[in-house]
Amino acid sequence: MIIALNHKSNFDKEEYDNYLKEMSLIKTSQELILCPSYVHIEKILPSNLILGAQNVSAFDCGAHTGEISATQLKSYNVKYTIVGHSERRKDQKENLELIHQKILKLLNNNITPILCIGETKEERATNRVEEILQKEITTALNGLTNYEKEKIIIAYEPIWSIGTGLVPTNSDIKKTINYIKKILPTAKVLYGGSVNEENIDIIKKVSNIDGYLLGGLSLKPEKIKIFLSKLN
Ligand code: PGA
Repeated sequence: MIIALNHKSNFDKEEYDNYLKEMSLIKTSQELILCPSYVHIEKILPSNLILGAQNVSAFDCGAHTGEISATQLKSYNVKYTIVGHSERRKDQKENLELIHQKILKLLNNNITPILCIGETKEERATNRVEEILQKEITTALNGLTNYEKEKIIIAYEPIWSIGTGLVPTNSDIKKTINYIKKILPTAKVLYGGSVNEENIDIIKKVSNIDGYLLGGLSLKPEKIKIFLSKLN
């Protein structure tokens, strides 16, 4: 399974060093992708972790103050990058066209995009989940060749579930992932949103999940260890 660890804007230098020491002791057969804050991207990871990033610029290298390009990420050996996380859509006002541009830059640099999609509470209440997800996927992947589409990982993260402790029922997750795989049959689909070392006992029963995107849990090596032991 693919387990992506999204640190968001957490950990100073010392905390990150300690984190890596603890993480290096974890033995697992799962594919663990660590997406740290950009300031830590140069730090060499233990061999059980693969380097990812949380975002990429829609521009190439050049006069774009504060941006980090896909070429720069590639030069630091970044293999995966999260795009379109709902926090960026909200805080940085990222729209689907911008997310599309970012995906193109990643693919051009052989970095695997992890495209985050998901509905708000209101969209769910008005039965618009499939409509929203379809729009997010088709706009973000507009014009991609089949070969390029095969490289995309989707992270289904209901916005109302992120950091709230609320998780959809297993049958809802299964139904939504089936729908995503109907639109994009080649995609690996991760579930993200309040996954922890306790509720994984229940969520792991969903048969069509290919992995998880972890936020809060990703910061706690001890709990990650418990989480992983339940997947093995
Ligand atoms: P959470 O975050 O696990 O803390 O809910 C998931 C995410 O935002 O990717």
